[in-house]
Amino acid sequence: MVYKLAPSLLAADFGIIKEQLAKLDEAKVPYLHLDIMDGVFVPNLSFGLAVVESIRKYTKMVFDVHLMIIEPERYVEQFAKAGTDIFCFHIEATKDAKATVDKIKKCGMKAAIAVKPATPISEIKDLLGELDMVLVMTVEPGFGGQKFMEDQMEKVKELVKLREENNYKYDIEVDGGVNPETIKTCFASGANVIVAGSAVLGAKDISARVEEFAQIAKE
Ligand code: DX5
Ligand code: ZN
Repeated sequence: MVYKLAPSLLAADFGIIKEQLAKLDEAKVPYLHLDIMDGVFVPNLSFGLAVVESIRKYTKMVFDVHLMIIEPERYVEQFAKAGTDIFCFHIEATKDAKATVDKIKKCGMKAAIAVKPATPISEIKDLLGELDMVLVMTVEPGFGGQKFMEDQMEKVKELVKLREENNYKYDIEVDGGVNPETIKTCFASGANVIVAGSAVLGAKDISARVEEFAQIAKE
């Protein structure tokens, strides 16, 4: 699977957001990860539709939207309209994951499901054949800058195995605590879409960090 970096906007300086996006574009970053939090599903608030819509004008990066909100199915159409490419919701946040996936696809977006650290892959097993991506959280969702949970790599490996056995097509994304050290474990386990907030947007030299990750991906 092709390696793709998805810097998390949560770690950006929102006062100079346009310049930060330009820097990521210059570094040829393919995805932008957008964390939407409602203060209910996770104990934190971030930004919402207006921000997604507004920054859509300034970059062509693929918008990988990670919804940490309850009943994400309520906002599928609106995120599609705002320019979302990948709609990723938490399995723990909805009563009808299958209907949500169908709705996402009907709206022309790619469908992804995220699992919290305590949620096993068995919870999404029936839907794997329909997903474009699976997100394995490597921290408890809610905040940037937390410590990487190595034990979550078991789930990444399980997803690789299930994909091989069933000829599924999904990408495997990891999110939380990724840095130049932990990214190696992610690649070794089989993840190919890498979210990184503080390690990329918090770096002194963003392009250098993007390049460093790209080199590690080739190793
Ligand atoms: C956490 C978010 C992450 C976060 C990652 O709930 O889903 O995307 O921004 O930040 P870092 O890479 O700093 O752990
Ligand atoms: Zn995220």
